[in-house]
Amino acid sequence: MTIEVCADHADASERAFTIVAAALRADPVLVLGLPTGQTPVAMYARLAAAGLDWSAARTFNLDEFAGLAPGDAGSFRAFMDEHLFSRVNLAPARIGFLRGDAGAAGAECARYEAAIEEAGGIGLLVLGLGSNGHIGFNEPGPTLTAPTHLAVLHAATRAASAYLFGDDPARVPERALTIGMGQVLKARAVLMIATGASKAGAVAAMTHGPLTTACPASWLQVHPRATLLVDRAAAAG
Ligand code: GLP
Repeated sequence: MTIEVCADHADASERAFTIVAAALRADPVLVLGLPTGQTPVAMYARLAAAGLDWSAARTFNLDEFAGLAPGDAGSFRAFMDEHLFSRVNLAPARIGFLRGDAGAAGAECARYEAAIEEAGGIGLLVLGLGSNGHIGFNEPGPTLTAPTHLAVLHAATRAASAYLFGDDPARVPERALTIGMGQVLKARAVLMIATGASKAGAVAAMTHGPLTTACPASWLQVHPRATLLVDRAAAAG
């Protein structure tokens, strides 16, 4: 894993923007995996303002809350529409997203897994980091799951997502659909951004701790092309 320590969140966002923009310019048909969360907002703002050509690219987001339709205000789809999709020339047909409101979660997960494979797999997977070491919604636990699946969210994860639901953790869905660790480790390149003191423990565990299901992000230690951008606060541990 290549670790770059940036001065602060703005610096890490700028570095992430530079890496993603360069990848898109070098490969206009790039298949991007994309995260939600507060961490990538500044990167998305830079990408949206850069005038890049997204017309031949494809995107697949990591996850979506179970039960939410794309138009629901708290959905990750609404988040991505606001911060990126409505601001770049990416046709809706080129945007891959899990449907939280799909009737049968198993069939929806299988559809998504097949769509990623049919697109040729994820070329560059951009990730945030949960403060408990989760990736997407692959939570710590006794086991990890390789394929796209329906996950039960930890209380801390629901609390961290409350900003999407009027700061009320009780309104955050209890479950979510997420790509699994298989797609994370199969991505040809991974770029993770982790900033702020709240991520310092997870950053220390993922970079210097053992490979363990108790820290899903620790598995990036064995990814052949993983880059971690941290700011000084997140690097403190
Ligand atoms: C959620 C998302 C993750 C994201 C994490 C961290 O759990 N499913 O993909 O990395 O939040 O979010 P933030 O960037 O707001 O700290």
